[in-house]
Amino acid sequence: MAEDVSTHQAQEDARNANVLISVNGKLVPRDQAVVSVFDSGFMLGDGIWEGMRLYNGHWSFLSEHINRLFEGAVALDLDIGMSKQQLIEEIEKTREANQMHSDVHLRLMVTRGVKSKPFQHPALSQSGPTIVIVMEHSKPKINRGIRLATVPHMRGLPMTQDPKINSHSKLNCILACIAAEKAGADEALMLDINGFVNTTNACNFFIVRQGAVWTSTGDYCMNGITRQKVIDLCRLNDIPIFEKNFSLVETYGADEAFLTGTFGAQTPVHSIDGRVLADGKTGSLTLRIRELYKQLIDEACR
Ligand SMILES: Cc1ncc(COP(=O)(O)O)c(C=O)c1O
Repeated sequence: MAEDVSTHQAQEDARNANVLISVNGKLVPRDQAVVSVFDSGFMLGDGIWEGMRLYNGHWSFLSEHINRLFEGAVALDLDIGMSKQQLIEEIEKTREANQMHSDVHLRLMVTRGVKSKPFQHPALSQSGPTIVIVMEHSKPKINRGIRLATVPHMRGLPMTQDPKINSHSKLNCILACIAAEKAGADEALMLDINGFVNTTNACNFFIVRQGAVWTSTGDYCMNGITRQKVIDLCRLNDIPIFEKNFSLVETYGADEAFLTGTFGAQTPVHSIDGRVLADGKTGSLTLRIRELYKQLIDEACR
């Protein structure tokens, strides 16, 4: 049996026991970083978040992440209570307090805040948002290609819970992940409402066929920042890239497959529903795109 792996697995780092966490602007040790049981994020998943990475003293693609967060806040009608610049200053304050420079993962969380009663109505949150900034030393440690399993859980329509809202509530994705693990895989491959291959429970999904890169149309998945960077890189480097509908037949028959996300950048996929891709090795185009992305990060975070 292959050892258990997840797409967000990092090396152990003893320094993480002592990191300072920002809770509404107050820096506290991680074991004292708590929110109220009446917090709308805890109670109902009513909040939004971003995952970012620090390289060489710079947050990669910071403005894209902050813009996505603020767009989510408008959709939720949630007042963050500070400007984009003020929020960036809070992030920097936390980074400086932790003396962090590189290989750091950030989780920025904004919820509708503490409720006056334990019920759903958003108007019960009257004391302003809860803003939490968690930073950890983090080097991805994914020792082998990911195994995916398709699951019955679908990516929904924009008028149910729009998959483009990076909400605290991720139950659809969590149920998908549980189903994939029960099937002996690491992560779930999720289909859209028409049965086309869409995304995984925590990352965006790409295949390679005959030298061309395919990903979903983008209609039912998270508008991943890494996904967009990979599409842009392909265009810039004359690698054929298609955002299109494709089925499981074309996926099982792919030459290569990989996942994208801020944490793992490009994570190779080695099997899907028990079908082994590229003899269980990481394909050459996946490696090339990974290298191009590394160069992009180096340039962006100089
Ligand atoms: C469901 C899902 N897909 C994809 C991603 C990757 O997005 P990004 O590349 O912006 O990190 C995330 C990360 O938040 C996600 O939650």
